[in-house]
Amino acid sequence: MSYLLLKNIKSLVQVENSTRSIIMGREMDKLSTLENAWLLLKDEQILDFGSMDNCPDRADEILDVEGKMVFPTWCDSHTHLVFAGSREGEFVDRIKGLTYEEIAKRGGGILNSAKRLQATSEDELYEQSYQRLQEIISYGTGVVEIKSGYGLTVESELKILRVIKRLKENTSATIKATFLGAHAIPLNYKSNRVGYIQLIINEMLPRIAAENLADYIDVFCEKVAFSVQETEQILFAGKRYGLKPKIHTNQFNCMGGIQAAIKAEAISVDHLEVVNEIEIAALQQSSTIATLLPSAPFFINDHYPPARQLMNANIPIALATDFNPGSTPSGRMSFVLSLACIKMRMTPNEVINAATLNGAAALELEKDYGSIAKGKVANIFITKKIPTIGYLMYAFGSDLIDEVILKGKRIYKS
Ligand code: NIG
Ligand code: FE
Repeated sequence: MSYLLLKNIKSLVQVENSTRSIIMGREMDKLSTLENAWLLLKDEQILDFGSMDNCPDRADEILDVEGKMVFPTWCDSHTHLVFAGSREGEFVDRIKGLTYEEIAKRGGGILNSAKRLQATSEDELYEQSYQRLQEIISYGTGVVEIKSGYGLTVESELKILRVIKRLKENTSATIKATFLGAHAIPLNYKSNRVGYIQLIINEMLPRIAAENLADYIDVFCEKVAFSVQETEQILFAGKRYGLKPKIHTNQFNCMGGIQAAIKAEAISVDHLEVVNEIEIAALQQSSTIATLLPSAPFFINDHYPPARQLMNANIPIALATDFNPGSTPSGRMSFVLSLACIKMRMTPNEVINAATLNGAAALELEKDYGSIAKGKVANIFITKKIPTIGYLMYAFGSDLIDEVILKGKRIYKS
């Protein structure tokens, strides 16, 4: 047994006496904090906290964090961080005027990454991905979802999911895996879409389920990817193997992907750069979370999701990075939070709720993560000295994380 005590905490943020599961509506702008506080961690768990007037005086290790704040680590509920190489060539093509969709149509985009990944060994892919995981931990992320989707063959999709499994075994971060075989139609199936969908359903899914390699099923429902009808077919097939849906939809077009996701009882619908009234009404009737990824429209110079409209409709919002080589080569949650404030007019309290508890809920992990509460997993980060909570989003280019503790272990120090 080992006790770690943090004392003189300027502000203990997102602290809960009774735990909430998901935050929506007006609650999104409420954040409870405890000023001048202590926090006691016992092994992997949060044991207790309180105000410095009654601070315990014994522990195996004591950290004096005067002037610094303590947050629960970010829950990044949407990434594709297992990928091979990079795509800065397309970045330059976009600067010169091509759009993301035009690049995809001419065989760039996801297919470009798939070609690279297919040619990369599992060990090399693991090494690249492990570095990215270490990097996002240093940004304060403790829980992360990682998708497949750059394999697009049976062997390469399995390769990605095995890399994710290996990452899980070698990190203190908490990882959930999502199967996204339906990310794009590979070139050799261009005139045989049905054949590729059969491959996903009849070859990939059974092997993934047999090796227990995924928690969720995802489909990119979009004009350049999969239709609504194809999306439904794949989601329901995934469900038969015990994978719950979380889908990419409404990035560029309103096609009915949200309704399909709700029908399949999706945990979340992700992207939502474009959403119409009917879709908002459908989400209102469901328990599906809207996961917004503002660094994707930032990077491809597109417009941002209507966060305020969704929040006014009482729809719970999560924020995630979408870390991937095409639309967001960044896993920095603090930048996502700044963008959400600046471009989507979310308040600092709203973005913190969206990146902690609601991010955890988008991975069904809210009982153990997403807030500072007794019995939850000891996943926290300590900031550098900052004047207020809002400073974290305001000073958007600064590295303000001083230390990261995951499962009670001091993992990263700036
Ligand atoms: O979430 N939109 C689909 N998938 C990724 C990007 C894929 C890529 O361009 O490599 C996304 O933005
Ligand atoms: Fe994505």
